[in-house]
Amino acid sequence: MYDFVRGPLLWVAFIVFIGGSILRLAYLAYLAKKKDYTVLTYANFRAGFRSILHWIVPFGATNMRLRPVFTIVSFLFHICLILTPIFLLAHNVVWYQSWRISWWTFPEWLSDVMTVIVILAGIYLLVRRMVCKEVRYVTSASDYVLLAIAVMPFLTGFLAYHQWLAYKAMLTLHILSGEIMLMAIPFTRLDHMLFFWLTRFYMGSEFGAVRHAKDW
Ligand code: HEM
Repeated sequence: MYDFVRGPLLWVAFIVFIGGSILRLAYLAYLAKKKDYTVLTYANFRAGFRSILHWIVPFGATNMRLRPVFTIVSFLFHICLILTPIFLLAHNVVWYQSWRISWWTFPEWLSDVMTVIVILAGIYLLVRRMVCKEVRYVTSASDYVLLAIAVMPFLTGFLAYHQWLAYKAMLTLHILSGEIMLMAIPFTRLDHMLFFWLTRFYMGSEFGAVRHAKDW
């Protein structure tokens, strides 16, 4: 099982992630051109990027200022979720062994702290979905599944690193859950990683250049 997830399935996961993301973006561009050309006509770089900037800076949007705890947790969740796998020493060793490429690594204690942050933030987001009335109202089973898909690689990676449970089994689960996450990104609502920028650019263009109003 380990050899399978470490070998062929890893290739499949990267191909599905990169190929699927390119296909989804290309299809969206095709749709915009064919069916909704006004989206392109009204694209405004200044207004579009101003909106993106407001939404990627903590507390840059009104909604974030109204919900400070959620904002902090959500930013920590995303920052740690994206940076930890890229700069983790163990991952970089694998990249080097397989492809002779290497880049900066975080000290191991920092990766460990960031992993715990993802897990704790995931628990916060889960509890919020269950207890916050207005969030529960718009929550379906898929939201829990997607949250689990995002957090599992961190939980299993943490357990494998500390070797508190059967190491090889946990490592296999870790690789498998990471592969599931990668393959889920282009085809589930995790695709907001790709489309967040375009949605904000579109909204920023429309609000900023057409309605002359803020969208943050
Ligand atoms: C770089 C790109 C990304 C951007 C700009 C982004 C942005 C956002 C935004 C604006 C939200 C909604 C509000 C919030 O929870 O903050 C959100 C939610 C979420 N994101 Fe991302 N995201 C990115 C990448 C990812 C990735 C790579 C994953 C996991 C694979 C992920 C997992 C989630 C999850 C699970 C939620 C829902 C949290 C909940 O249950 O409320 N995001 N993201």
